[in-house]
Amino acid sequence: LTKSSMNKVATNGSNLMKAHREEKSKLKKEIEKRIQEKKALDDPTSDTVTQRKEIDRLKSQLVLTAWERSRMKEDLTFGKPTTLPLNEQRKSLPVYEMREELIQAVRENQFIVIVGETGSGKTTQITQFLNEVGFGKRGIVGCTQPRRVAAISVAQRVAEEVGCKIGNEVGYTIRFEDRTSASTRIKYMTDGMLQREALLDPKLSRYSVIMLDEAHERTVATDVLFALLKQATIQRPDLKVIVTSATLDSAKFSEYFHNCPVKHIPGKTYPVDVIYSLEPQMDYLESALDCVMQIHVNEDAGDILVFLTGQEEIDSCCEILYQRVKVLDKSIDELIILPVYSALPSEIQSKIFEPTPEGSRKVVFATNIAETSITIDGIRFVIDPGYAKINTFNSRTGMEQLVVSPISQAQANQRKGRAGRTGPGKCYRLYTELSFHNEMLPNAIPEIQRQNLSHTILLLKAMGINDLLNFDFMDPPPRNLLIRALEELFNLEALEEDGYLTKLGSRMSQFPTEPTLSRVLLCSVTNNCSEEVITIISMLSVPSIFYRPRDRQQDADNKKIRFHHPYGDHLTLLNVYQRWQLANCAEQFCTAHYLQYRHLRRARDVRNQLISIFHKLQLPIVSCRGDYDIIRKTLVYGFFMNAAKRDSHVGYKTISGEIPVVIHPSSSLYGREHEYVIYHSLLLTTREYMSQVTAIDPTWLLEAAPHFYKVADESKKRAKITPMFQRPNAKRIRR
Ligand code: CDP
Ligand code: MG
Repeated sequence: LTKSSMNKVATNGSNLMKAHREEKSKLKKEIEKRIQEKKALDDPTSDTVTQRKEIDRLKSQLVLTAWERSRMKEDLTFGKPTTLPLNEQRKSLPVYEMREELIQAVRENQFIVIVGETGSGKTTQITQFLNEVGFGKRGIVGCTQPRRVAAISVAQRVAEEVGCKIGNEVGYTIRFEDRTSASTRIKYMTDGMLQREALLDPKLSRYSVIMLDEAHERTVATDVLFALLKQATIQRPDLKVIVTSATLDSAKFSEYFHNCPVKHIPGKTYPVDVIYSLEPQMDYLESALDCVMQIHVNEDAGDILVFLTGQEEIDSCCEILYQRVKVLDKSIDELIILPVYSALPSEIQSKIFEPTPEGSRKVVFATNIAETSITIDGIRFVIDPGYAKINTFNSRTGMEQLVVSPISQAQANQRKGRAGRTGPGKCYRLYTELSFHNEMLPNAIPEIQRQNLSHTILLLKAMGINDLLNFDFMDPPPRNLLIRALEELFNLEALEEDGYLTKLGSRMSQFPTEPTLSRVLLCSVTNNCSEEVITIISMLSVPSIFYRPRDRQQDADNKKIRFHHPYGDHLTLLNVYQRWQLANCAEQFCTAHYLQYRHLRRARDVRNQLISIFHKLQLPIVSCRGDYDIIRKTLVYGFFMNAAKRDSHVGYKTISGEIPVVIHPSSSLYGREHEYVIYHSLLLTTREYMSQVTAIDPTWLLEAAPHFYKVADESKKRAKITPMFQRPNAKRIRR
């Protein structure tokens, strides 16, 4: 894929948008009319199939952006078409036949590995089986998920099956959101949450069983939990650990867990034909769309699943496909187009689980979330361009970046498998057979070997695990990643030179945020501006709150400028939040100012969570009452490593790495000339962009990090700041 081809797709999409908009509003009116008609009939059972079909047909023609969908949520919720009763559905899952065998295996062994095709019922059923036979009485039956969305959607499904409200017998916990209570017996959570719990209670004494689900994903938190649980079981002979995986790489897991037994759930899978591209594809989005159309026009019934890399791609593909389908001959079946990615609100995501109405076909554009974490029934065709966005640590900039990269062979096979769940299927690989064999790695590299580990290491240190080189990792992280993380923590003054946690470090570990943000939070207490800093950090932990509809960009930009603070984005975010609060957190305010209501609401939740952590730690929440300088200075305490100085040739250069960077056009500082700035992150697109930028006074760098910066040449009139690179040497940190 080339950048220009993506742009091309995006521009095509935007040109088509205009015509589409009118069509859309006509459709919306039509739907509203139907809803009114439906409401007019008092008897709910008179919601006839024809009526519903008609509304569904209209709905399927309505392609909305995620934002619009969430706005129209209420209007678009209809009763789900009836399918098999839930208990019948449960019994039809492959895992059901192994119920007794699995329960027995858990009773007899402390560890077991369970391997089964995605969709066989591992995540939703095994926890219920164990709860049904009494494990829930001895403690909580916990199940970890690498993804937030999966944790929520699975918990919702299980609550439905158990017949309870979320938060009662079945609940979930993700960062900044806890939907559990004292009566919760089955708890789904992100692996990161359990890792945090292990910090406070290394024996995990509340749990009777822990299922580490989706272990094949090998996230950092799951990898760390492998080792932590192995340790916990030494003191907890009654704790049961289940490791589940969708791939056949089970021998390695079993060996690591003292050669424990491996149970295979016989898959009900059908053969899937693989069709490779004959030559490499220049533009995988275009090829994917062509492929969808070909299937839709030429193939028998069956839904299509297309794997793309992210939200933007998915949204523009939905848009373009909608336009293409619209002009098709009326004799061709209708095509329901659905997007799936983690930023979508869960109400909309649940739509993909609804059965496709007869006489139509569904096409789902998904990120690799649909590889294993969620299962969509009825898929018979898979289109796999062979890419995914993965989080990688750029050792040059010291930053994490999402990069579009080729997937592994194991992932490709997993994607293929999605087509053979309900019948024989077809998988279109938009790459050549040669590149499958020669260019794709057999397995993806575990995250722990490619990500920034500072947060994880801070947690481990806080648990008293100091000897990281001899920690029982299944695959140890490379030394340079460890050293970098230790350096970062040392620079943040979380570690002593000897590698032990400082008092500050131990307080930092009590926050669920990245170490840099934790330090800012703690520093805000000393600087009497915690009220404002909590708000800023909450706003930084949600996706961008500014919304820029393609046909109203100018208006949106004008409105955004009114929030701009002359000193930068962090204060701009504070401004937005405060003004939204003044407007009683109204949705109307968001609509009028092109703000994402959903994200602001989430920021408010995050903020409340942070406030309760402050209360728990007995930290005061005080306002600096408009002293913006103290806020900016406080930010420097966490982000001094992300400082840049103006450079007449290239815009800016980072101080510590001398990397040429520029201010992102979406920043409120874009086009302004401040000598020194700090930034929240670097985005690499065509250039290296700084995003979330704030102007600072260089003396703050010296004040916040005297161990990191010094004045280069004091004889010069204008002091120049340079990094000292005073870092602990490897020998000192290795303990
Ligand atoms: O974990 P595994 O992939 O083995 O399967 P699962 O997630 O337990 O899903 C079993 C079945 O439950 C799927 O085939 C879906 O039909 C259904 N399910 C659902 O309808 N909604 C969800 N949110 C999750 C699962
Ligand atoms: Mg699962």
